[in-house]
Amino acid sequence: MSILENNEKLSSAMADIAEVAGYLWTKGWAERNGGNISVNVTEFITPGAITPLSTVTLPRRFPALGGDAFYVTGTGKRMRDVAKAPLQHGAIIRLHPDAGAYDIIADRIIAPTSELPSHLAIHDFARAGGAKVVCHTHPTDLIALTHRREFLQPRVLGRMLWSMIPEARIVVPRGVGIVPYHLPGSLELADATIAALDSHDVVMWEKHGCLAVGADIIDTFDMIDTLSKAAQIYLSARLAGFEPEGMSNDELEEIRRVFNLLPEGN
Ligand code: 13P
Ligand code: ZN
Repeated sequence: MSILENNEKLSSAMADIAEVAGYLWTKGWAERNGGNISVNVTEFITPGAITPLSTVTLPRRFPALGGDAFYVTGTGKRMRDVAKAPLQHGAIIRLHPDAGAYDIIADRIIAPTSELPSHLAIHDFARAGGAKVVCHTHPTDLIALTHRREFLQPRVLGRMLWSMIPEARIVVPRGVGIVPYHLPGSLELADATIAALDSHDVVMWEKHGCLAVGADIIDTFDMIDTLSKAAQIYLSARLAGFEPEGMSNDELEEIRRVFNLLPEGN
């Protein structure tokens, strides 16, 4: 029997995941198995004993996550397949109370994404602030910008993206951080990502992809989508042969004030 049976709330969470997985594929951000999603579904899992299908030791403990349950996409799984059936191409895992291992509790044994260290480290770090979703994807336009050395310096890429269209400042109020290249799936990548998320909503992984954190999966997708639009405006202007002017610091500051947003770097 599927864990979704008689569980409307969990089924609805899976429908949202499927919707976003479909967007990632149709946007062209999810070649083959590119990208991964995790969602904290603890509140939708009936407490109590569930016979684990398998148990895996974690490379480190994630203390804030003891007992929490997550939907995670499977490693090597295609996002376009996740869009059709999230639970056939991902798993629900529940961390042990000491958060040093997890059980796969539904619906079948599917190995979680190779980026699980980053996902769990971020959930551990951001849980107290209400974060429930981590979404990693490969947006072509945003990744292209990380191949330019100038954009790897702190705040340069984030400022440029904010200045392309007012919505970028509003929809991604804490901006975009840059994480230097690290091996995909490594604990080094996880640690560098947490450091960057301390003062940003979204991080770019140099020459690899984008990762966003949020309370709601649709809103989390919207942040990446808005940044991709900003990147496209920049690249379209460059393709047309000119450097886009960008909104001025005064114009950005006006938005910050009127929309009651935090100053940069908070
Ligand atoms: P997984 O298939 O292991 O999730 O890896 C995809 C990816 O984008 C790695 O960064
Ligand atoms: Zn990736």
